[in-house]
Amino acid sequence: MRVLVTGGAGYIGSHTVLALLEAGREVGREVAHADGQKTGQTERQAAEPHEITIVDSFVNSSPAVLARLAELSGCEIKFHEFDLTDYQKTLELFQAEPFDAVIHFAGLKAVGESVEKPDLYYHNNIASALSVINAMLKTGVNKLVFSSSATVYGEHTPVPYKEDSGYHLEATNPYGQTKVIIERILNDAANANPGWKVALLRYFNPVGAHESGHIGEDPLGIPNNLMPYVAQVATGRREQLTVHGDDYDTKDGTGERDYLHVSDLAQGHVKALDHLEHQQEPARAYNLGTGQATSVLEMVEAFRRASGQAIPFTVGPRRAGDLATAYADPTRAATELGWRAEKTVDEMCADTWRWQSQNPKGYTP
Ligand code: NAD
Ligand code: WQD
Repeated sequence: MRVLVTGGAGYIGSHTVLALLEAGREVGREVAHADGQKTGQTERQAAEPHEITIVDSFVNSSPAVLARLAELSGCEIKFHEFDLTDYQKTLELFQAEPFDAVIHFAGLKAVGESVEKPDLYYHNNIASALSVINAMLKTGVNKLVFSSSATVYGEHTPVPYKEDSGYHLEATNPYGQTKVIIERILNDAANANPGWKVALLRYFNPVGAHESGHIGEDPLGIPNNLMPYVAQVATGRREQLTVHGDDYDTKDGTGERDYLHVSDLAQGHVKALDHLEHQQEPARAYNLGTGQATSVLEMVEAFRRASGQAIPFTVGPRRAGDLATAYADPTRAATELGWRAEKTVDEMCADTWRWQSQNPKGYTP
């Protein structure tokens, strides 16, 4: 398939580009005896890999990732640098290249920044999604995989989160609201346009890095999220971790989350893309998580074991807006997409450490 990957220079996009190029598509082929009689068995066979075009503005990523992707995959990857809020440029690209499908990762994602600059988040995330949708409509592209988030379950949905929990989607911050709104826009667009197939992938907490250690998460400035912060403490770039509260009603009092390896998440996109043509509903949401809850202190201990480094921490107050526990019911992705997260928390920590210790300043030389 010819796939446009928006935000493909970012953390999850870059791992997904590699997964798409590495895997190709596995298809079943019926096995026959030498005389041509069918055996009734099928064998797995790799099909043509996907052809990838990336669009990214580098607002939250580095051009250096492109050379690493080319090196790791051995493939040519077409790339265009522009801001997807520019509809004219987006349309020109769709008119110049005949895409079969789009994976839309591009968006801003820092929760705290979205509270300070809601206009920036609503504009960037929603206008870029609308550019892509309108360009698809204009050029007859009707398959889309969208990066949604577990944040759409808000604070009232009981765990484990199910896609159809009967609770209204909501989010506690402008970033999360953009995901709720774009999900609604995509539902409406898919229902209004026969032939449209949209997968809304609700990610839980992606962590880890490619097993090569050559690509990984490279946050600008001080990391907001647990795993990159812990990794920077382990290299000595940050002095100590602040654990945001240890008085929650959880196994050890610290927050529990559903961490999943970014390479498993990338495979989820490969599966979702392959499944789109068989999807019954015009738009369908899928949780991508492990179904397991890991506490902050368990994660710190796992990282200490994986890295062999001390992870000094102090306990601070709760962080505004944090939930005690959030984890997925990943049954739908397993039964419908044939996807399951396979990597353990120890593997997530080992791969993050390989990336972080080999690239202590991320993509900055
Ligand atoms: P990222 O910031 O590493 O990647 C996003 C990419 O999009 C960046 O390379 C950025 O430069 C690009 N981009 C942003 N706005 C753009 C625009 N207007 N035009 C062109 N490029 C633009 O983030 P990520 O962690 O890889 O997340 C990818 C997607 O998954 C995002 O939509 C994010 O909201 C969503 N998501 C991420 C997480 C997470 O914890 N990382 C969890 C749930 C959902
Ligand atoms: C995990 C746990 C913190 C940092 C965020 C977004 C969410 C999604 C993923 C995109 C919590 C604790 C953290 C630190 C800590 N992104 N923590 N000290 O909050 O589950 O989700 O990223 O959609 O929308 O909100 O992830 O990694 O920030 O926090 O104690 O320095 O680690 O309190 O319990 P979160 P996180």
